[in-house]
Amino acid sequence: MSETNTFSIRVEPTKHSRLSQVDFNNLKFGQAMSDHMLVANYENGAWTDVSIVPYGDLTVSPSMSALHYGQAIFEGIKGYKFEDGTVSIFRPDKNWERFNKSARRLQMPDVPEEIFIGGLKTLLDIDRNWVPSTEGTSLYIRPFMFGTEAALGVHPSASYKFVIITCPVGAYYSKPISLKVETYYTRAAEGGVGFSKNAGNYALSLYPTQLANEEGYDQIMWTDAAEHKYIEEAGTANLIFRIGDTIITPHGDTILHGVTRRTIIELAEKWGYKAEQRKVSVQELIEGIKSGAVSEAFAAGTAATVTHISKIGFEGQNYELPPIEGRDFSNKVLDYLNQLRYGKIEDPFGWNFIV
Ligand code: COI
Repeated sequence: MSETNTFSIRVEPTKHSRLSQVDFNNLKFGQAMSDHMLVANYENGAWTDVSIVPYGDLTVSPSMSALHYGQAIFEGIKGYKFEDGTVSIFRPDKNWERFNKSARRLQMPDVPEEIFIGGLKTLLDIDRNWVPSTEGTSLYIRPFMFGTEAALGVHPSASYKFVIITCPVGAYYSKPISLKVETYYTRAAEGGVGFSKNAGNYALSLYPTQLANEEGYDQIMWTDAAEHKYIEEAGTANLIFRIGDTIITPHGDTILHGVTRRTIIELAEKWGYKAEQRKVSVQELIEGIKSGAVSEAFAAGTAATVTHISKIGFEGQNYELPPIEGRDFSNKVLDYLNQLRYGKIEDPFGWNFIV
């Protein structure tokens, strides 16, 4: 806990629910926002006005610091519904911890647990009818914070807004994805902000991703800034490989320390696989695909969940990964996490946070 205050949450329910307008059989990622949102303000060194209000526009100043100097961070979390109607959030404590790490790197205030986790619980309780229940669907939860001070001097904003919005979603990627190894543009350098979930890390990915899309790839595989030799992440998700009998994920402070990535490594260890968090060179990956040592490759993230990688493009050549059906580890992870998140099996880890 970063503060000892107790916060009361003011709740203003909507008079006009939009729930009946949503086609729950055809959910597009991030388009139909739920009825309510949480908003809290940071002023004079303290959090105040924690409120749950109808989802709607926010009023900001054109000289607001986040628009100019980028003090803006966010998280991605998912809520699930069990068959008996119980609503559960997957490991929100880990996202809260990461959110505050991002905040500190960008010289922003911590958000206390009572507001982040407590507010999320109250918000999902009010919007529990928005949590879809069919397999593959969930309520995507987007907490974010930005500097609101109206001033153009380059300094930490004196005021901030913390907001949580939510939306029912289906799959972010509806099929396996192809990745192009990026050997010119850079996502993050040592000592930079690669580990933090800040808006700028996504803005900088848009142009190189567009170039990769024009070449027919779905996404970029980022490599290290110094040599473009080591694999980092996919930008919208972390990367995990099975090389020989080992489950391997790239590691370091230039990549986002994903909650899904961490969950999968924990599962691998629990199931008796050898798991490593270490540098993986592009050469190791390509040689491994050619020799058959790389049997699985997937993207792992809150939005992406487990998305199989079909093909990797490197220096003008394409390298096909083995068929999806034979990918024992990633298929087992996906199946296990689905069962656990929808409350179909016991939760031995305490990962489901019940609302
Ligand atoms: C998430 O997985 O929650 C993310 O924030 C990735 C985003 C690009 C959708």
